[in-house]
Amino acid sequence: MFRLLNNLTIPFIGMGTGKLKGELGVTAIKEAIDAGYRLFDTAFLYDNENILWGIHHDQVERACRDSCKRLCTEYIDLYFFHFPVSFRYRSDEEKWPLSPDDCLDNDYMNAWWDMEKLVDMGLVRYIGLSNFNAQQIQGVYDISKKHKPVCNELEHNPGYSNDELLKLHKKLNIQMLAYCPLGRAKEEKLEPKFLYDEKVKKIAKKYHKSSSQIALRYSIQCDLIPIPKSTKNNHIRENINVFDFQLNDDEMQYMKTFHNDANQICKFHFAEGNIHYPF
Ligand SMILES: NC(=O)c1ccc[n+]([C@@H]2O[C@H](COP(=O)([O-])OP(=O)(O)OC[C@H]3O[C@@H](n4cnc5c(N)ncnc54)[C@H](OP(=O)(O)O)[C@@H]3O)[C@@H](O)[C@H]2O)c1
Repeated sequence: MFRLLNNLTIPFIGMGTGKLKGELGVTAIKEAIDAGYRLFDTAFLYDNENILWGIHHDQVERACRDSCKRLCTEYIDLYFFHFPVSFRYRSDEEKWPLSPDDCLDNDYMNAWWDMEKLVDMGLVRYIGLSNFNAQQIQGVYDISKKHKPVCNELEHNPGYSNDELLKLHKKLNIQMLAYCPLGRAKEEKLEPKFLYDEKVKKIAKKYHKSSSQIALRYSIQCDLIPIPKSTKNNHIRENINVFDFQLNDDEMQYMKTFHNDANQICKFHFAEGNIHYPF
């Protein structure tokens, strides 16, 4: 377990649930619980809860209470601020901005302070950020009133790993979670490169692991908590089986050579141009 601010402990690895809903989601999550996962990254945006989405920045308490209801729980362990840009609210069903005009200039700090109140109300235990850049993280950290962000969830994998941001998180004692830790693997296209690279395959063979396990181990050794998503039982089990080996310094350095800014997958293009756009 990791130890975070305020004595929060959080597992070394979690499971992503983007697009995992209905029967598919239930089956995958049951398998994951059996395999030992105890951290699940869910979201209102994915129709399976627990991250504050951009249409709810001025109705934080209502959104959180609704999430608790749908999760059938009285509180949420860790509630994230999904993205720093607010979107015009039309209805809970219309989640995405329809045009650039729907991306608003509202100051996200008001929503953050409302999230802080959720902790005092007992509706959530800890609050965190997602997709905030260095300046925004420092800003929230500096002017949060009572509850600092304990986590930030960002894209991270060997193809896209931001070392500068990692240093800031360490300085502020904010734990990073790595989303897209497998670079949204697409077997049919042999992507991303780091999963199909001959040297990575060799490293994997040395430890009797797969290239995916090497990538997840890389995030863990960079001190992040990866949250890979899978619908397949064998992948779900493979992804959590990464604690009986350790990459050496040369192998870690080699994994870093895949980094390229152009590899970023989640750019949230629709919000480009907004004053709070983080990338
Ligand atoms: N906060 C945010 O803004 C944000 C943004 C993006 C994602 N996320 C979170 O991060 C989670 C993970 O990201 P992601 O789902 O985009 O990408 P990912 O976890 O990097 O990749 C998922 C893909 O990898 C495949 N896969 C999983 N395990 C594998 C293995 N062992 N070997 C080969 N292929 C494997 C899966 O296919 P199979 O189903 O066939 O295994 C799936 O197509 C999301 O589900 C979501 O919870 C958060």
